[in-house]
Amino acid sequence: MSTRKTGTTETAPWWQRAVFYQIYPRSFQDTNGDGIGDLPGIINRLDYLNDGKDNTNSLGVTALWISPFYPSPMTDFGYDISNYTDVDTMFGSLDDFKRLLSEAHARGIRVIIDLVLNHTSDQHPWFIESRSSKDNPKRDWYLWHPGRPPRFQWLLGKKRRPRKPNNWLAIFELKGAWWWDKKTREYYLGTFTRSQPEVNWRNMDVREAMYDVMRFWLDLGVDGFRLDVVNWFVKDDQFRSNPWTTNLNPDLFQNHIYDRNRPETHDICRGMRQITEKYNGDERILVGEIFTRITGLAAEFHGYNNDELHMAFNFDFLYQPWSARAFFQSIERWYGAIPDGAWPNFTLSNHDQPRHYGRFKEKGFTEARARVAAAMVLTLRGTPFLYYGEEIGMDNLPIHHADLQDPFGKRTWPIRRFGRDPERTPMQWDSTPFAGFTEHGRRPWLPIPRDSVTRNVAVQLDDPDSLLNFYRTLITLRSRRAELQLGDIRFLIPGTRNVLAYRRDLLTEDGNQTVAVFLNFASRTVLDFQRDILSAERATFGAENWKVLLGTHRAAGSEVGLPTLQACEVLILEPAR
Ligand code: GLC
Repeated sequence: MSTRKTGTTETAPWWQRAVFYQIYPRSFQDTNGDGIGDLPGIINRLDYLNDGKDNTNSLGVTALWISPFYPSPMTDFGYDISNYTDVDTMFGSLDDFKRLLSEAHARGIRVIIDLVLNHTSDQHPWFIESRSSKDNPKRDWYLWHPGRPPRFQWLLGKKRRPRKPNNWLAIFELKGAWWWDKKTREYYLGTFTRSQPEVNWRNMDVREAMYDVMRFWLDLGVDGFRLDVVNWFVKDDQFRSNPWTTNLNPDLFQNHIYDRNRPETHDICRGMRQITEKYNGDERILVGEIFTRITGLAAEFHGYNNDELHMAFNFDFLYQPWSARAFFQSIERWYGAIPDGAWPNFTLSNHDQPRHYGRFKEKGFTEARARVAAAMVLTLRGTPFLYYGEEIGMDNLPIHHADLQDPFGKRTWPIRRFGRDPERTPMQWDSTPFAGFTEHGRRPWLPIPRDSVTRNVAVQLDDPDSLLNFYRTLITLRSRRAELQLGDIRFLIPGTRNVLAYRRDLLTEDGNQTVAVFLNFASRTVLDFQRDILSAERATFGAENWKVLLGTHRAAGSEVGLPTLQACEVLILEPAR
């Protein structure tokens, strides 16, 4: 059973204390009536996120991760960038971004932006140059290969196109990842879609160009980056084929030892960290997406000397079933995997996976489960990353074939669990026809669910018992109690009888501060769970009297003796003094 300790509150950097909120800008708020969200829309909604004062009507988050808003042909909705240092006119202008940054900072909100450096769009000038001829100076900026000699060449003559160099796959096309360029008669690599050619990170000019992109945004004042698919940057220098495996999701039956996860990538991360550190030490951060199910592999990207990413995204919660035991094991796995001194993080939903509200659906208990999940992610030791709309219980919307946008969703239709449109629908602000997302009558880029009339921010702000107000109370509690941000964590109940419980302790100048969290994952009452409290803790825990700080079934301030937990009860306690 792990105990995790930390430094003092004064020395902890902002991102260890922050609550992050991911905005998918296409879907947050439209202001120009084109049915697509934009940066001025985010500015208009900043007060909802954090008003910088008392947060009377705000969620209270303190940091944003904004998905890509750069110029892009939008084949992968901005994850295919054609200019790294500007804003797509669809989203506004660079001046809008500067205004967004200063308005956010004025409210105490930090902003990290999404950099997609594994590949560019095929419309990026670098690629246009690179594909123009074999001896173009930028040829080597991308991964080109003449291919393997065709089969039966002796029989069919030289005109036949060479075979693809190896078995690597383009995951959103479900085809081989090498794309034939007719003009220069070579293949280029694109392991997402053919419109996303992969850059050659082994080329030092590419590396410098990407580092310059980072400097451009750091000079503008961004607080850091969410880095897309970091573990894909470097490919095997001999382009060897991956071995086959039995794992379909997300590995498509391959063991990705040659097209991903190359050890050379760590060097690049160290280079990036040296850049951010020039901007005042740990103030500007790197949060990297490590696209893998292998926890240990993701955790390594912090660097064993803590000299790589500040946080490597921990995606393990995205794959857990609704089970206290499964979450306990997942938490322990992550705490155990990250190097000493690295800081944990947790996330339940993002723009690539079905929303957890829908994943954990259970008749009569879906909303209650959403509360348990929220209480968990907002009281664990580690930075929480929320996904826009989870605070009002947005669900995955089944999308008709005609409305599909996501290239992966189109390719895998009608298998709905793979497409990513269902979790990207517009934010539900109010009860107007387009849910306050857009006002000018143009249909939003993705449909809005019918239940937005009742499930939206305006309705839930008015209802003291709403999920939104539950999130707000949790975030306020986390912001007020340093032990919830930085304290050690010790598990009391490791998921037995579907209950997860832990204490968070922090030694401060005023003595030890403690909060205890009980989460009943079961859809039934659990009696007398004190017996399940780990024996080492029973003495200390039982000896104290506890008072409710926040609960789904008991009033704040009431004293408890811990006899039972109601179905899906959340109980957050402090010692009664
Ligand atoms: C990452 C992004 C995803 C995108 C892909 C290709 O996994 O999160 O949305 O499609 O990279 O850039």
